[in-house]
Amino acid sequence: MLDQLNALKLEIEEAVAATKTVGELDDIEIKYLGRKGRLTSILKGLAEIDEATRPKVGAAANRIKQEAERIIAKGRVALQERSLSDLGEREREDVTEPGLRPPEGHLHLVTQAIREITAIFDRIGFTRTRYPEVDWDRYAFESLNMPADHPARDEWETFFMDAPTSKTNGRMVLTPHTSNAQVRELERGEFPVRMINIAKCYRRQSDATHVPMFHQFEGLYVDRGVSITHLRGVLDYFATSFFGPGRKTRLRPFHFRFTEPSFEIDVSCGVCGGTGLGADKQKCRVCKRGWLELGGAGMVHPNVLKAGNVDSKKYSGFAFGWGVERTYMMKEGMQIDDIRILYKNDVRFLKQF
Ligand code: DAH
Repeated sequence: MLDQLNALKLEIEEAVAATKTVGELDDIEIKYLGRKGRLTSILKGLAEIDEATRPKVGAAANRIKQEAERIIAKGRVALQERSLSDLGEREREDVTEPGLRPPEGHLHLVTQAIREITAIFDRIGFTRTRYPEVDWDRYAFESLNMPADHPARDEWETFFMDAPTSKTNGRMVLTPHTSNAQVRELERGEFPVRMINIAKCYRRQSDATHVPMFHQFEGLYVDRGVSITHLRGVLDYFATSFFGPGRKTRLRPFHFRFTEPSFEIDVSCGVCGGTGLGADKQKCRVCKRGWLELGGAGMVHPNVLKAGNVDSKKYSGFAFGWGVERTYMMKEGMQIDDIRILYKNDVRFLKQF
C-alpha cells in the first residue's frame, strides 16, 4: 500500500507540472483528492488493513495527502503568477500595425457635379443663389414672356401643386426649370447681376434621357453693355473648365420666349475632337456629327427685364440653362447610356465615382 501511495504522489506531481490552466488543475484536484478521488479511496481502504501496520500506513497516507495538497496549491500559485506575467504579452497592442479602414462613403456624383459647377462659376464672380423649388406660375412662366395658355409652355411638362391660386402670381408649380430664378434675381435690383442658380427641377417624364426630378443650372449676367461676345466667353470658359482644354462651343439659332436672340449651345465632342469621324474614318460613335448638345442660352428678352423692374434701355444681359445630370454624363469617358441609373442607388455603380 505504501508503494501504491508513493506512485500516486509521483503521478500527481507529474500531472500538476503539465497543467497550463487553473481549470485543468481543478480537475486534477477532484480526480485525486475529491470525495471519490483516487487518494481518498485509498485512505478509506485503511480500515481493512490489519491493526499492527495500520498506524504506520495511516501516518504515511496522511503525509502523502498533505503533500499532494501542497503540490496542487503551489501549482495554483505558479499558474496565477504566470498568467499575470503573460498579461503584457497577451494583451499587447502594436500601435504601428496598419489599421483596418472603416467603410467610407462619398458624395453622390450629382452633388460632386454641382460642387464642381459652383466652383467653376465662382472663379469668374458668379454667386450661387437659392430660390424656391415650389414657385409661382408668375416666376416659372408668366414673367418669362410665357403668358397663361401659351403653347410654348407645353414643352415643360409641369407638375402643379394642389394649392390655392394667387390673383397676382397664379398657380403654384414644382419648378420645371431653373429659369424661375431670373426675375426673382432681377427684382433684387443689384447690379451687376452675376448669378448661378442650381436647383432641382421637375417634369412629368421618365425614360433613358429623362428623370422626373433632375437638376439644372442657370446663369444670368445683367449689366450695362453686356453682349453675345460675353456669353461666348463664359460658355467657352465653362466648356474648357468642366470638360477639359481643347473643347469648344458653338451657338445655333433657336427660339425661346425669354431670350432674343436665342441659341442652342453645342460643345465639341471630346472623343473625335469635333471632326465627327472616329479613328476608323467612320462616323464618331459618341456624337455622330462632331458636336454634343448642351442646352439653351440667349440675350435676356426686354419683357423679362421689364418684369424684373429693369430698364432695358440701360441694361442688357445674357442667360443660359441646362441639366446638371446631362452635362455630367457628357464628360469624357463617362459612357452612361441611361440617366436613371444615377438615382437607382446601386452602390456598385455609385462606388466608381
Ligand atoms: N429653361 C430652359 C429649359 O429648361 C433652358 C434655357 C434656355 C435657359 C435658354 C435659359 C436660356 O436661361 O436663356 O429648357
